[in-house]
Amino acid sequence: MRKSEVALDHKDLALSVAREAGELIKNYVGGQFQVEEKSSVFDLVTEVDRESELLIRKRINEYNPAHKIIGEEGVDQEDISILLESDDYIWVIDPIDGTTNFVHGLPGYSVSIALVHKKEVILGVVYDPSLDEMFSAEKGKGAFLNGESIHISNIHLLEHSVLSTGFPSDIEGARANVIKGIDEIAPVCSNLRSFGSAALHLAYVATGRLEGFWEYNLNAWDIAAGYLLVKEAGGKVSDLSGSPYHLTTRNILATNGQVHEQLLGRL
Ligand code: IPD
Ligand code: CA
Ligand code: CA
Repeated sequence: MRKSEVALDHKDLALSVAREAGELIKNYVGGQFQVEEKSSVFDLVTEVDRESELLIRKRINEYNPAHKIIGEEGVDQEDISILLESDDYIWVIDPIDGTTNFVHGLPGYSVSIALVHKKEVILGVVYDPSLDEMFSAEKGKGAFLNGESIHISNIHLLEHSVLSTGFPSDIEGARANVIKGIDEIAPVCSNLRSFGSAALHLAYVATGRLEGFWEYNLNAWDIAAGYLLVKEAGGKVSDLSGSPYHLTTRNILATNGQVHEQLLGRL
């Protein structure tokens, strides 16, 4: 994609920049890049995260200079409050979701891009460059994987459900809560998985590969795009006390709807 005379609609822009960022990230796999610790030794960032975010910001700015952008690697506290107050278009991006996987040469990282308008997520794109899987959803228009319609699973028993969670970097708070949850859920579900990218976990609930996903202390850039995928695929997303998802939800439960109440009761 190059700066063009032709306008790109929001969805085409999100799809093309997610793919472009995915290619950029993939080109570093197996090579050298700088890794730094952010809030703790468990919270990593690389120069590739920053490069990916710069690329996404640049493309959005080229086509929509008036739109605001909230990206994990360039965020400040004021940005978060505009999500709640502003009716403008706001892009919410995670330039690499699953940085720990990326650093370790594992697959299972993604680019997550959401567009918010009037405080609602209206577009969500999650791209997995390792598998070339592009998940997308627009409000009211369904959810898609590589252009094919996707739908949540039809499983209603926990004992038939494959569920997922993640391990947040906040060890004593959020990660301890996840571990308590695993204690409750592991004995009663078919199995548990943790792939290392919240955005991909949500995309997998949307495709019916997983029945549910929960995690604590996530941010809008981890979940805004995936939330819309699940919703448009027929699923349910709430916080862990059962209130409907909104842009500041950090403790999340996303399911096929059928196992939602059973999980809320146990988490
Ligand atoms: C992380 C991933 C991971 C989740 C962490 C997130 P990052 O995002 O989504 O799956 O368990 O809580 O922080 O740091 O790789 O963008
Ligand atoms: Ca993330
Ligand atoms: Ca990230």
